[in-house]
Amino acid sequence: MNSLSIPRRPRRNRRSPTLRALATETHLHPSQLVFPLFLVDGSGIKQEIHSLPGIYRFSSEYLLEEVEECIQLGIQNFILFPAVADHLKDTTATYSYQTDNFYLKVARSIKERFPECTLISDVAMDPYSSDGHDGLVQNGKIVNDETLPILAKMAVAQAQAGFDMLGPSDMMDGRVGYLRHALDEAGYTETGILSYTAKYASAFYGPFRDALDSAPKSGDKKTYQMNPANRREALIEAELDIQEGADMLMVKPALHYLDIISDLKAASSLPIAAYHVSGECAMLTAACRNGWLDYEKAMPEALLSIRRAGADVILTYFAKDFASRFPQGI
Ligand code: PBG
Repeated sequence: MNSLSIPRRPRRNRRSPTLRALATETHLHPSQLVFPLFLVDGSGIKQEIHSLPGIYRFSSEYLLEEVEECIQLGIQNFILFPAVADHLKDTTATYSYQTDNFYLKVARSIKERFPECTLISDVAMDPYSSDGHDGLVQNGKIVNDETLPILAKMAVAQAQAGFDMLGPSDMMDGRVGYLRHALDEAGYTETGILSYTAKYASAFYGPFRDALDSAPKSGDKKTYQMNPANRREALIEAELDIQEGADMLMVKPALHYLDIISDLKAASSLPIAAYHVSGECAMLTAACRNGWLDYEKAMPEALLSIRRAGADVILTYFAKDFASRFPQGI
């Protein structure tokens, strides 16, 4: 019999909630989420980021409270970013590897109080650089190889502070291998590297730069972050990161780069992470606050799309909200 003559009725699998559950291809559980946290020095500080409502810059005591609340909700993974005061910034980001800086101190206390959580760092010069670039600036250029030793000092200091994984977000060539080598030499063979493999020169980082006051003082990041027009180039970055010893590969942003997530998933057996960045979250939040979209539905749909494209891990400012609404996942 000609199979084409049998009428196909895909709706049969959608008839009831239980059938739909059986036919569900993608799930999302709070354990797959990473919550970004912004840390500021001082005490008694909890400032909402105006372009990212619901997300705050916390001083240490509030940040620890936030971590505790998240853990109770089932969020166990955090990525920590420092908002550094201007007077501590310089051209070579020296504050980033001072072992008693507030970022490393707070990382230590998070891991002391909540040893079971996964704590991820940010490795890049921009939060500490008076130039606001991820690499060292010389004669108006972001120089690659001269940046690597600075990143390595930062990485070793972070490993020493107890971070479980380091997140190089700087996009310098060769930095994953360089950091891996420096970490191993210093005895931190167990500290992992979550590489920002395909990080694009995106307009969707705006609220993050507001949060950290880390926008470049001049120029843009196009000589190191990737061109949003490029897809195959992400595979070159992936190939290099795999060779250089990355433990996980990340695509950033996420929602506007679902094709890249899918490509990296096909190209590597390493876990694939996607960073649902500040601007992507802010768009959705803004539409929901205007009453134009339903947050309860649009938020999980956005996260599920990122999973469906192939992300094993999602970094998102919605992590806490997702866990509080869907403790068992979706
Ligand atoms: C910089 C860094 C950025 C983000 C994470 N690390 C911004 C940038 O590259 O300018 C953006 C994250 C977000 O927008 O949520 N090292």
